[in-house]
Amino acid sequence: MSTPASAAAKEVFDLLRDDLLAIEREFQRDAISGVEVITEIGEYLREGGGKRIRPALLLLSAKLCGYEGHGAVRLGSVVEIIHTATLVHDDIIDEALTRRGRPSANTQWGNSKCVLAGDWLYMQAFKIALEERNFKVLDLLISLTQQMVEGELLQMEKLGKMISQSEHLDLIYRKTACLFSVSMKLGAVLARASEADEDRLGEYGRNLGLAFQIVDDVLDLTASEEVLGKPVASDLREGKATMAVIHALDRCTAAEREVFAKVLEERSFTSVSHADVVSILERYGSVDYAMASAHEHAEQSRRALSGFPDSEIKRALLWIPDFVVGREK
Ligand code: IPE
Ligand code: IPE
Ligand code: MG
Ligand code: MG
Repeated sequence: MSTPASAAAKEVFDLLRDDLLAIEREFQRDAISGVEVITEIGEYLREGGGKRIRPALLLLSAKLCGYEGHGAVRLGSVVEIIHTATLVHDDIIDEALTRRGRPSANTQWGNSKCVLAGDWLYMQAFKIALEERNFKVLDLLISLTQQMVEGELLQMEKLGKMISQSEHLDLIYRKTACLFSVSMKLGAVLARASEADEDRLGEYGRNLGLAFQIVDDVLDLTASEEVLGKPVASDLREGKATMAVIHALDRCTAAEREVFAKVLEERSFTSVSHADVVSILERYGSVDYAMASAHEHAEQSRRALSGFPDSEIKRALLWIPDFVVGREK
């Protein structure tokens, strides 16, 4: 059945189809190593699918700025390879068993090999980026990678602890929104767009990325593993308090706070059930609060584009925030 949302999705996909296919081919070629197990791990992740939202953003940003060369396909592959490397490492850190509806790579090859394959993928991404012979591209990618690693480390230090909404936003900027922002900026850099345009596109990506992670964290609390293709209710088990939980913790009774503390401390739903947690979140409208915040960031990302003239590319970029907040996986 064709709904307005799926019609819009098809339109955006049609607009990018050839380039996204070219990025798949590029990724496949780029992730071949002389050491077979590295190729196998990269290929396993690539075949697992994924939304390819970061390369799509890079392509749209480059097109919006009038860029027509092959660099957008190359850098599209670069951002997806960096994303893949972070997923391989993230699943080791989170001890996740599934990813993209399949057993995660760490369960198939073990942690040690996956750490090294992730490192190799990072370096391979930089090697391809180097071909652009553009220091700005490298500057963006190096700062990005450091932000992402810092984000994961900061998160680790906060595991099991209470954090404020502003600390939480800083964390999700580093671990997720920064890559969205850099994907947008890279499109502008390729097109040699003005600094002002690069900033506006970066701002679009930053807000979109914040909305994206807020929704990812809500889905972790509300979705099923079947739909999501990765573990659910895992953030609390991993000791992570996300936006809805922080909202409830700021408002709830001492007894209710104890419920969250138990899960965070036991790192499992043993003395407390997932349903207990969800019912506290419902009592305080905390999931609605997080979704409202995601909608607000989606709106801010759309607003960042107001200076660009109307075009089908701009319309696609205006639609993506709706997709991000409305998605089910
Ligand atoms: C997963 O990203 C990691 C987060 C930042 C939440 P995606 O949800 O984009 O993962 P794939 O690529 O579609 O599998
Ligand atoms: C995403 O955080 C961090 C990355 C940049 C990979 P999560 O730990 O919430 O991501 P998922 O839920 O495992 O995809
Ligand atoms: Mg994870
Ligand atoms: Mg998650």
